Amino acid sequence: KKKVIIDVDTGIDDAMALSYAVHSPDLEVCGVTTTFGNISVEEATRNTLQVLELVGATDIPVYQGAFKPLVRELKEKAKLFHGENGLGNIMLPLPTSAPQAISAAQYLVSAIKAQPNEITLVTVGSMTNLALAIMAAPEIVSLVKRVVVMGGAVAVPGNRTPVAEANICADPEAAAYVFQSGISLTLVGLDVTMQTLLTREHLQQWRERDTKVSRFFADICDVYMDAYAKVGNVRGCGLHDPLAVGVVIDPTFVTAVPMHVQVDTSGSASDARTIGDRRKHPEFPPNVDVCVEVDHDRFVQHFLEFVM
Ligand code: BDR
Ligand code: CA
Repeated sequence: KKKVIIDVDTGIDDAMALSYAVHSPDLEVCGVTTTFGNISVEEATRNTLQVLELVGATDIPVYQGAFKPLVRELKEKAKLFHGENGLGNIMLPLPTSAPQAISAAQYLVSAIKAQPNEITLVTVGSMTNLALAIMAAPEIVSLVKRVVVMGGAVAVPGNRTPVAEANICADPEAAAYVFQSGISLTLVGLDVTMQTLLTREHLQQWRERDTKVSRFFADICDVYMDAYAKVGNVRGCGLHDPLAVGVVIDPTFVTAVPMHVQVDTSGSASDARTIGDRRKHPEFPPNVDVCVEVDHDRFVQHFLEFVM
């Protein structure tokens, strides 16, 4: 089994990504770390514990992370997409467990150092925890197996701004810091995640299955799909965070191209944009494998098979 740590801002698609990872026979989820983005870090921690309890994965430790970006102030939550509570305003029982005593960044450092070249980190929220971990222990850059990032939009429009994707927008300096750190990175951005759609027909199948878990996912995704429809995506909602998990399970779901990627931190209209350089330029060697194509049908089938 591949060992993964998932860094989440749970969030509707984060909840699906967690359930998919937990149920996938190819993965061992060693721990889950939380961050801000869709909601505050405290809400992300609560939602993560609730979702793990719902799917019966109470043995997975949860570590709370940063509550604000490295340099900037915390932005507004993504209420339109994820509701006031981050889970489409669908209520789960309050968690019976609590997060661990050490912080997300401390856990990342100790877990990666304890298992050199074994851990794949999947970040599906702001990249702050990873940036803090690298600052505290730069040696983890060469000890982590790979980092798979749901974030960015290299050749397609953004979602939080016309050019920038939400997870990069949440903490552009953290993303910029990680991108230039030399760590092995795969970027699963809107370029590919907007091609992996969950549709109303899928939700209907979950309703017919009529389990506690399938009803919960159908309910939260209804809210998510309504939001997508409001911004013009009537066919369905993007399986952003689940695709990042999918890429760890089976890298052949995507085609990735090595590029030099920079994150704009100018604070201007292009702030938080991920700029991918496809030239072969000796001064700008590739630092990121950017996913540019996805075998969407095969991925969505796999996701539906293992998400619950
Ligand atoms: C990303 O932003 C968040 O709203 C989602 O959970 C996902 O991680 C998509 O841009
Ligand atoms: Ca997320």
